[in-house]
Amino acid sequence: MNKLLAHRATKPLLFVLALLPFASLLYGAVADTLGANPAEALMRGSGDWVLRFLCLTLVVTPLRQWTGWSALARLRRMLGLFAFFYAVLHFLCYAWLDMGFDLAAIVQDIPKRPFVLVGSLALLAMTPLAATSFNRAIKAIGAARWQLLHRLVYAIVLLGLLHFFWMRSAKNNFGEVAVYAAIVAVLLGWRLWRRLRGRRPGKPAAGLTG
Ligand code: HEM
Repeated sequence: MNKLLAHRATKPLLFVLALLPFASLLYGAVADTLGANPAEALMRGSGDWVLRFLCLTLVVTPLRQWTGWSALARLRRMLGLFAFFYAVLHFLCYAWLDMGFDLAAIVQDIPKRPFVLVGSLALLAMTPLAATSFNRAIKAIGAARWQLLHRLVYAIVLLGLLHFFWMRSAKNNFGEVAVYAAIVAVLLGWRLWRRLRGRRPGKPAAGLTG
């Protein structure tokens, strides 16, 4: 498995796979197969994929340590960048389909709707991570500072979850939110557990980023 993950075709394949949800949303919009409310389907579809890619990014380190598939690490950056890609797409859907690209209306709407504000904070926090995800940026800011900055991912996933919870609370519909909350709890709980275990004398320290 490690050999397969390290294969030079793996990254391009992941790239194509990660674009499939986008292709499917685009096709649905063009072919008008998104149902009675295409705007809502695009908003929701893109929002779901932001959360999924955030979870996939966070699953890499525990899975790598559990299975010993060290080559998984080379896929993490692409997964994180796709989370950002879908977040930008999600925001563009909102700005276009909900707000008609009216900047003044967007600026007024964001603080008025707390769940939209929380989503915007998450997107804002993702921006420096995406901007510093390239080797030159890592070199420029230094590995230690880069690692510290990238711990923002925990705040981002929690804000994303709160945004989702808040949006669904209007309809008392918490089924899917509970599934994502359980996944995030396991992924962050594992890191916390490793960190606490690392603090015990005789055990090697483990960073939150794993
Ligand atoms: C990390 C950032 C974000 C994540 C993880 C995220 C995730 C989600 C998810 C999962 C949904 C619900 C999808 C569903 O019901 O299946 C959603 C809905 C929504 N999001 Fe976001 N979102 C983010 C950022 C934003 C931003 C920046 C905005 C706008 C400024 C925004 C505006 C909305 C709106 C308006 C809806 C409701 C759509 C509707 O009424 O159906 N989100 N988001």
